[in-house]
Amino acid sequence: MARVEDKVVAFGRIIDHGEFHEIASLGVDYYHRKKGIGKKMLFFLIQKAKRIDARKPIYGVTHLPEFISSCGFVHAEDGYPDYLDYKRKHACRLDESKISIMEWKGILG
Ligand SMILES: CC(C)(COP(=O)(O)OP(=O)(O)OC[C@H]1O[C@@H](n2cnc3c(N)ncnc32)[C@H](O)[C@@H]1OP(=O)(O)O)[C@@H](O)C(=O)NCCC(=O)NCCS
Repeated sequence: MARVEDKVVAFGRIIDHGEFHEIASLGVDYYHRKKGIGKKMLFFLIQKAKRIDARKPIYGVTHLPEFISSCGFVHAEDGYPDYLDYKRKHACRLDESKISIMEWKGILG
């Protein structure tokens, strides 16, 4: 979670799937958006996942590829875990064509 003063303004989580990490449930309070908080939270989660196990790939399933690509995620090629495809097709409310599977390929500064 991220706080501004005493108020929780953002949250997100890392799911450890064994062979890979998934970043999920990322959200920023409506009135605090577009100020860089989402990006900070995403980098925080990436750093945390890398500290847990730097060898595991990090994925995200999202309807906002533009947002997470600003932090080093790219569209995942074939070969990603089946679970992610299942989630894209079944677990998201939007049409599956609007959901992207992204893999982090960035560099931590
Ligand atoms: C998506 C969300 C987390 C972004 O949080 P935020 O704090 O507003 O994002 P930031 O200000 O850190 O923006 C980071 C970058 O992403 C871009 N971005 C942010 N929201 C965007 C959107 N809806 N569509 C496209 N690009 C977006 C910003 O322009 C910025 O780009 P830049 O680095 O080139 O300037 C927030 O809008 C949100 O909580 N949305 C509802 C929940 C949701 O959709 N979660 C899924 C996230 S994968």
